[in-house]
Amino acid sequence: MEILERDSTGRITKFIMRRPDNWHGHFRRDTRMEAVVMHSAYYYARMTVMPNTGPIRTPAEALIYRQEIVDALIAQGFSREQAERFPRMTVYLHQGTTEEDIRLAKEHDMDFKFYPKNDKLGTTGSQAGVPTLFHVERAVAYMEQYGVRLLVHGETATHPDVLDLERRFVEEQMAPLADKYPNLHVVGEHLSTMEFVQFILDTSSNVTATVTPQHLWYSVNSLFEGGLRPHRYCLPLYKHREDQEAIIAAVMIGNKKFCAGDDTAPHPKDGPTGQAKLADCGCAGAFVAPVSLAMYIAAFEKAGALDQRFEDFMSVNGAVIRNVPLNEDTITFERRPWVVQNEYHFGDNDVVVPLCAGETMEWRVTNC
Ligand code: DOR
Ligand code: ZN
Repeated sequence: MEILERDSTGRITKFIMRRPDNWHGHFRRDTRMEAVVMHSAYYYARMTVMPNTGPIRTPAEALIYRQEIVDALIAQGFSREQAERFPRMTVYLHQGTTEEDIRLAKEHDMDFKFYPKNDKLGTTGSQAGVPTLFHVERAVAYMEQYGVRLLVHGETATHPDVLDLERRFVEEQMAPLADKYPNLHVVGEHLSTMEFVQFILDTSSNVTATVTPQHLWYSVNSLFEGGLRPHRYCLPLYKHREDQEAIIAAVMIGNKKFCAGDDTAPHPKDGPTGQAKLADCGCAGAFVAPVSLAMYIAAFEKAGALDQRFEDFMSVNGAVIRNVPLNEDTITFERRPWVVQNEYHFGDNDVVVPLCAGETMEWRVTNC
């Protein structure tokens, strides 16, 4: 990271760094995917695409989905090289996952994603999930053997209190499994508790994590700030302030096990209950793509860590963990405040409300 300008008080106002990657996001499918994918590809060179659309249960299905994303980006003016580089695919782990699926995933450099099955407190597509990690232990053993990464939505479905689902998962499932398969590559996704943070810190170097900007910014209180905030609502829920502080501390100290994954998860603003944000039963998921970089910068700046630690978290750690080359090109940021727009197009007739709609963000990207 190179500082290009400071103001008279010494504050950084412009800097340049290696282009970032984003190791967790949701794009949906068809015209919805076509409407949102460039909001991420504009900033991030590569992105891990989650499979809970459909869901995508085999590497062959993931290849088809990958091509749809590549085609959409090319149609929107990205070069073939940029478009091909962008999506990194994942496969939805299920009880029918076979050794051959895992072998093929390795061949195509794909990861597997574990979602806990949860009909009541679950997230998009989680009806298709797996009751516990132990229900897919054979597949997990093959993943260790083949060196295929297991991405984990770390919540248990068997505890009644939504604020405790992640802590319980770590204690009851994640820790024993990681113990039994010490060479398994695990990514704890979107950390939300101090217990998951501590587990990542305490475990071997093949156990790493992604952190969202919203889990750096918010605690559970933020869901009720001035009234109910449906566009902030996502799973795992933001937890207590101490949990938020533990996540911030682990990231800001510059620990190389943590990298960016914004978990952008668009849902239409309006629509039937269970399928939209503003419905009797509103969906979990925050559309963070347009603001995620600005949010990450703000979090690092607030913590006094807007230096090489920021570039490492955004652009280095994730690639090193996944053993892929670092991006060669750069991105430039300027402190020039902008107001987040209220809605974006989403599919044929819908709109999606971004996180921080109407709020002023301090930083913008100026060279994409
Ligand atoms: O809030 C969430 N929304 N959490 C997830 O894990 C999935 C996501 C989605 O797909 O909407
Ligand atoms: Zn997600």
